[in-house]
Amino acid sequence: MNSFNNKSEREQMNVVIVGHVDHGKSTLIGRLLADTGSLPDGKLEQVKATCKRNAKPFEYAFLLDALKDEQSQGITIDTARCFFKSKKRDYIIIDAPGHIEFLKNMITGAARAEAAVLVIDAHEGIKENSKRHGYMMSFLGIKNITIAVNKMDIVGYEEKVFEKIKKGYLEFLNEINLKPMHFIPISAREGDNMAQQSLRMPWYKGASILEALDAFDKFVPNYARALRFPIQDIYKFTQEGDDRRIVAGRIESGTIHTGDEILFLPSQKKSRVKSIENFNSASLNLAFAGQSAGIMLETQIYIRPGEIVCNISEKQPHVSTKIKANIFWMGKQPFIKGRTYKLKIATQKVPVVLSQIISVLDASELSSISNKEQVDRHDVAECILETLKPIAFDDVVHIPETGRFVIVDNYEISGGGIILAPVFETGSSSLNSYIRERDYNWVRSHITQGQRIQRHKHKPALLVITGESHVKTVTIAKQVEEVLFKEEKSVYFLGVSNNVLISEDHSNDKTFEKMFHIRQLGELAHILTDSGQILITSVSEVDEYDLNMLKSLNRPNKTLVVSFGKIQLSEKHIDLLLADDEPLQTSCQKISDFVKAATLLDPEFSI
Ligand code: GTP
Ligand code: MG
Repeated sequence: MNSFNNKSEREQMNVVIVGHVDHGKSTLIGRLLADTGSLPDGKLEQVKATCKRNAKPFEYAFLLDALKDEQSQGITIDTARCFFKSKKRDYIIIDAPGHIEFLKNMITGAARAEAAVLVIDAHEGIKENSKRHGYMMSFLGIKNITIAVNKMDIVGYEEKVFEKIKKGYLEFLNEINLKPMHFIPISAREGDNMAQQSLRMPWYKGASILEALDAFDKFVPNYARALRFPIQDIYKFTQEGDDRRIVAGRIESGTIHTGDEILFLPSQKKSRVKSIENFNSASLNLAFAGQSAGIMLETQIYIRPGEIVCNISEKQPHVSTKIKANIFWMGKQPFIKGRTYKLKIATQKVPVVLSQIISVLDASELSSISNKEQVDRHDVAECILETLKPIAFDDVVHIPETGRFVIVDNYEISGGGIILAPVFETGSSSLNSYIRERDYNWVRSHITQGQRIQRHKHKPALLVITGESHVKTVTIAKQVEEVLFKEEKSVYFLGVSNNVLISEDHSNDKTFEKMFHIRQLGELAHILTDSGQILITSVSEVDEYDLNMLKSLNRPNKTLVVSFGKIQLSEKHIDLLLADDEPLQTSCQKISDFVKAATLLDPEFSI
């Protein structure tokens, strides 16, 4: 692993400086740049001279503007991005343009703050933004926090003033479950307790700002964490007469080696890495976070894009249909219950519903917690989301890359969120409660199911024919329909593309569209089997969750699953397993016989 762990490279940490207007954020940054010798040569003198020429007092904050000017002139120097260096590491200051922008950037991953310094003016005391920013840190799960009580020079470096602010602010932080690592009295302008211990506040024995920053914990570097390799695509190569598949994507976390035993989540399938392919160079023995890679497997298994490849011997992501998350909503339409949205996490895309709102804050106020029934634009909400299918994910504090998601509403990214924890419940899923409601509200006619069965002379059923080849399953399904039709069964073939009832359009997104199709198919199957018919359909590339959804929607009527080969489904989900290589005619006969037996009238129905 040391080949890429370049020890000579200095560690970097992203820090955001927050606080109320004029409390001294820019001064604190300017002072740190100056006191750590991080400014370009002569910059400090140059800015001081300009101030003198224009007869205005020098401000450390001007250093930032001076560096910004250089940046806009296209001169790229490290400090223009606001770096400062301590002995331990390099710091990058992240701009917090305003809370809404900042929250948006942080949640979508555009900005990443690992640590925060919150500045409070000793003279003015705790103001609205001092609290809002505290909320923001807590919402974002930033644990590395230090509070700086600035402008101690104005209050005569008085311990009493510092202690009063400290007490008040700690009470507030306690309410929102945040524990700062340090509480430091400083004068950014005068340089007290910034890079060195101040002699003017002998009563304070704690860390200086620089020491406090250096004491922050750095996240474990991403290549050293557990493997998370979300599958982007699966390429099939057959030109050498073989059936090679390359599972491709970008490694978000961890390292993968040839020979590793791997697990695919959420499907739980296992295999071993046969080789790692790099698109431009010869095969590698390992690949790590940040790299795009393709792997070949020792055993051929059926998997789909969206799954996450993990290492069996490492800590694994959660798999669940329910997550507790903090979301930041930016959609024009509010985020409401009872509507289906699309959730994207790593390469997974799944339908999602808002299941419960725990609390909502208005992002521009950030202090008002209310009991709302919907999440409006620029609201920050803690809520429970439920996906239609299980997804694999991590808590954001553990692995941010697979702990962060976006919500899409009508093609637009409308919300971003971070995952706090999975929710495991044995209670009812939204699908089950939907079905209960549907069945409860179903208006029945005077004709009973028994009468229908007598009329048709067979029981109703949904027959699902699946296999890897779409053409083959469709062909067979139509043939089976013909056979049964000739034998006077009430039978109907319905192809997946035939069902156009619900026109929720999510084009260009095959996996997502498919889930909607399955859902529609289930609804149609329920109506047609309820009317007493045998409905035949073919679905290629089906998994056990698709099947469970179909079965649930079609209940109480029977769903029969016929599969060519068992590469996609384990045997327990298959009612009739057929060999892929037997003649079509034979398969067709077997399926027809199987359906007839399964829909045979019970003896009491003999007429
Ligand atoms: P905004 O970016 O407008 O929110 O302000 P800011 O938080 O960046 O504050 P800035 O650093 O611009 O400082 C605001 C004013 O406070 C300036 O006039 C500074 O000179 C002054 N100031 C900052 N730190 C200190 C300090 O330690 N002591 C005193 N006396 N004044 C300070
Ligand atoms: Mg400023």
